[in-house]
Amino acid sequence: MAFPAHRPRRLRYSALLREAVRETRLSPPDLISPLFVCPGENVRREIPSMPGNFNLSIDNLVEECRETAALGIPGVILFGIPPRKDAVGSGGFDERGIVQEAVRAVKREVANLLVIADTCMCEYTDHGHCGQVVEGDVDNDRSLELLSKTALSQARAGADIIAPSDMMDGRVAAIRSTLDVHGYEKTPILAYAAKYASAFYGPFRDAADSAPRFGDRRSYQMDPANQREAVKEIAADIEEGADLIMVKPAMPYLDVLHRAKTEFNVPTAAYQVSGEFAMIAAAARNGWLDEKAAVLESLTSIKRAGADLILTYFSKQAARLLN
Ligand code: PBG
Repeated sequence: MAFPAHRPRRLRYSALLREAVRETRLSPPDLISPLFVCPGENVRREIPSMPGNFNLSIDNLVEECRETAALGIPGVILFGIPPRKDAVGSGGFDERGIVQEAVRAVKREVANLLVIADTCMCEYTDHGHCGQVVEGDVDNDRSLELLSKTALSQARAGADIIAPSDMMDGRVAAIRSTLDVHGYEKTPILAYAAKYASAFYGPFRDAADSAPRFGDRRSYQMDPANQREAVKEIAADIEEGADLIMVKPAMPYLDVLHRAKTEFNVPTAAYQVSGEFAMIAAAARNGWLDEKAAVLESLTSIKRAGADLILTYFSKQAARLLN
């Protein structure tokens, strides 16, 4: 027999052959758009480190959501920039708060779009931490009460999914029981189960003005070096009632994502965060990367690693390329 018997290149010679044996297919229903909502009317303020992303007032947010749904993207996740911040982040659980009003408006005006509410305190606290600070520490159990109130107010406003991103211990159980007691037992929880203390959140913190004013988040977000601990965190969140789980960031943690997907039988999301977006966008602006190709390759790699859903600031761009 002629050598070599196996010639993997045979299946790579034409676009049709490559398409026929392709293992991973990215499509708009895989994507979720993160959006930032702010007070005011007709506000559309570009975020300097995230070109093409904006702080939007509710009127413009509704328009953005219409376009997003029209592209076949199934959902958005909303982050709020409140008019005022205080020590306990009361803007986060205000029944008339920015995210609550935004959820109501989008649910009223836009059909066929899931509205996910990010549940956290850091955009609403004057110190920028993801919970209540007591004697210089983010107090876990007091923060659970605030997070539960926030989740309830978001569910009341009509959020389709509640997504806690704070990394306090026991938050999924606390939120689940609060939602259930108040009749929202049908509202699912997407837990940011393995969320790392990452350098790649920089641009988001500019967008939401949510950088911690003192210290850092390493007492609650995970150490980037740890994988085994992620398995423990995910197991705990599922045990506490999480319906979907998330790994965040995405590209630097594809090993964690893959393990999450293979070890647990639940829908798994990955968040391609602001710094991942900014790296590609900045390199492309400099002419150092082919942006379209890099966007599709990065998202395909996240799906290949195991993501059922990808939260990404490239969702509209990718959907246009895929449609
Ligand atoms: C915290 C939160 C963060 C992001 C979303 N929610 C990170 C943080 O500041 O610790 C980051 C998302 C991104 O970078 O795109 N509630």
